[in-house]
Amino acid sequence: MTHRTLLVLGLLARWAEATHLRPSRIQQVWDVMNQISVYSWENGTRAEALLEYNYPSLSPISSSSPFPLPQNLNTDQFSQVYDLAHMTMQNRNSSTSTDSPFQGATLLPDGAAGDPASLGISVLLANVSTHNEQVNGIGYGDAAREELDYLLYDVPRTSSGAISHRADQAQLWSDSVYMVPPFLAYYGVLHNNQSLIQEAYTQCSLYRQALKTDNNLWMHIVDGSGFLDYGCWATGNGWAAAGMLRVLATIKYSQFSSAMQQQQSDLQSWIEEILTAASGYISKNGLLHNYINDTGTFEDAASSALFAATGYRLSTIGLTNAHVNMSSQLLSAVSSKVNSTGFVTQVVDPLSFGEQGKASPEAQSFLIMAYAAFNDWNSTGRAGSGDSDDDPLGNYGGATTIDRPVELIIALAALLWAVL
Ligand SMILES: *[C@@H]1O[C@H](CO)[C@@H](O)[C@H](O)[C@H]1NC(C)=O
Ligand SMILES: *[C@@H]1O[C@H](CO)[C@@H](O)[C@H](O)[C@H]1NC(C)=O
Ligand SMILES: *[C@@H]1O[C@H](CO)[C@@H](O)[C@H](O)[C@H]1NC(C)=O
Ligand SMILES: *[C@@H]1O[C@H](CO)[C@@H](O)[C@H](O)[C@H]1NC(C)=O
Ligand SMILES: *[C@@H]1O[C@H](CO)[C@@H](O)[C@H](O)[C@H]1NC(C)=O
Ligand SMILES: *[C@@H]1O[C@H](CO)[C@@H](O)[C@H](O)[C@H]1NC(C)=O
Ligand SMILES: *[C@@H]1O[C@H](CO)[C@@H](O)[C@H](O)[C@H]1NC(C)=O
Ligand SMILES: *[C@@H]1O[C@H](CO)[C@@H](O)[C@H](O)[C@H]1NC(C)=O
Repeated sequence: MTHRTLLVLGLLARWAEATHLRPSRIQQVWDVMNQISVYSWENGTRAEALLEYNYPSLSPISSSSPFPLPQNLNTDQFSQVYDLAHMTMQNRNSSTSTDSPFQGATLLPDGAAGDPASLGISVLLANVSTHNEQVNGIGYGDAAREELDYLLYDVPRTSSGAISHRADQAQLWSDSVYMVPPFLAYYGVLHNNQSLIQEAYTQCSLYRQALKTDNNLWMHIVDGSGFLDYGCWATGNGWAAAGMLRVLATIKYSQFSSAMQQQQSDLQSWIEEILTAASGYISKNGLLHNYINDTGTFEDAASSALFAATGYRLSTIGLTNAHVNMSSQLLSAVSSKVNSTGFVTQVVDPLSFGEQGKASPEAQSFLIMAYAAFNDWNSTGRAGSGDSDDDPLGNYGGATTIDRPVELIIALAALLWAVL
């Protein structure tokens, strides 16, 4: 081969390899996330994504412990998350406050009992930095306590004791594992209350008992009446795995870590059970199907991003590298679905689980979480990647082209030069 051809091949290989999104593209994803998030769980998921990407030292799932929280935490140290907590307090129904310890009130008016709790950690952080400052007639800490009491004492439960995801009847949704237990655990750590952390663990356990199928994937919605979904919805499995991971990491970094070893190892095996089961169904394009084991359903970038984040985090919190390659494969493919205006495309419609939608607020947040996890994993040494490649995402086929226009032009120009 001529030198020219070699040079061209080298340039082309380089172009095909670098598949991570650039910071400017991630910024667009971020802007879209902020523009299109509407519902309580979308804002809660966004709050977590913001915390993990911008303020990792306060996040319970980073490679280092956030506990104990800084004593003089300033709202500037987590301003975007604080803004969301503040807005949530403004949207709270001010006429629902109670003083009774056994009667709570939801953080936001919502037919879902569980979803508003996804904002609970942000409100607790806002309380730490403002010392229970009042907004809309109630302090941050008092609103958080009312949310806790609401979950513990007001929301219906199944006969097993699982806290319902719905306010009007006892019904379990895999989604709830992301919304509720992480808040209970974080609250327990801040208040030195081990029984609350145990309750977070117990809720994960009860949800698993009710939802796990014999193929180790979880069903989406069971119990009660109305719409039920016994299928293994990919995003629901992602919510469950990512929620349990938060509880696990919160315990691991807390003052109760050594007292709660068994709970941590159970949670780890329940998370891995889902990731391992799902790994067998990844498509040749590197994505999960919307119903994981129903390979006739479309390939969904939203859930794939959430799974990617979870696999990297198991590594960055020091538990296992067994899922990092799967994460890189998924994140590589998801990155190729981000369009030039910053939307994650080919995503499930979050309001209609069986259908593909044009855009998804939670998918935007999942992508930010996945890159927060990737960056943490990359900067702490890429444990488990098995090579010294600068860009492990490049080892997988989901190569994206939009983020490398310059390289593409150079490669094409070189190609022309070689053939002419
Ligand atoms: C979620 O945040 C948006 C602003 O980004 C706001 O308009 C909306 O009311 C919030 N939703 C809830 C339920 O508070
Ligand atoms: C606010 O709370 C009051 C008192 O509980 C209730 O009657 C009203 O329906 C609530 N409003 C919303 C929007 O949830
Ligand atoms: C809120 O902050 C106050 C004052 O710093 C503290 O006493 C209270 O326990 C906190 N509440 C919660 C629910 O964390
Ligand atoms: C822990 O929190 C629960 C729920 O608020 C409460 O009933 C219990 O008394 C607390 N335990 C301790 C030791 O503070
Ligand atoms: C997916 O797994 C569930 C639980 O094992 C099973 O009931 C269902 O039939 C499977 N779906 C397909 C399409 O194989
Ligand atoms: C990116 O996707 C969004 C949502 O589907 C769409 O509205 C937008 O037009 C797309 N941008 C481009 C440049 O195609
Ligand atoms: C991964 O980290 C290395 C330094 O450890 C850095 O040079 C490289 O740019 C990072 N890769 C990505 C894709 O961020
Ligand atoms: C990930 O893949 C690389 C390259 O194929 C391999 O060397 C490495 O051992 C894999 N990592 C794990 C934890 O299996």
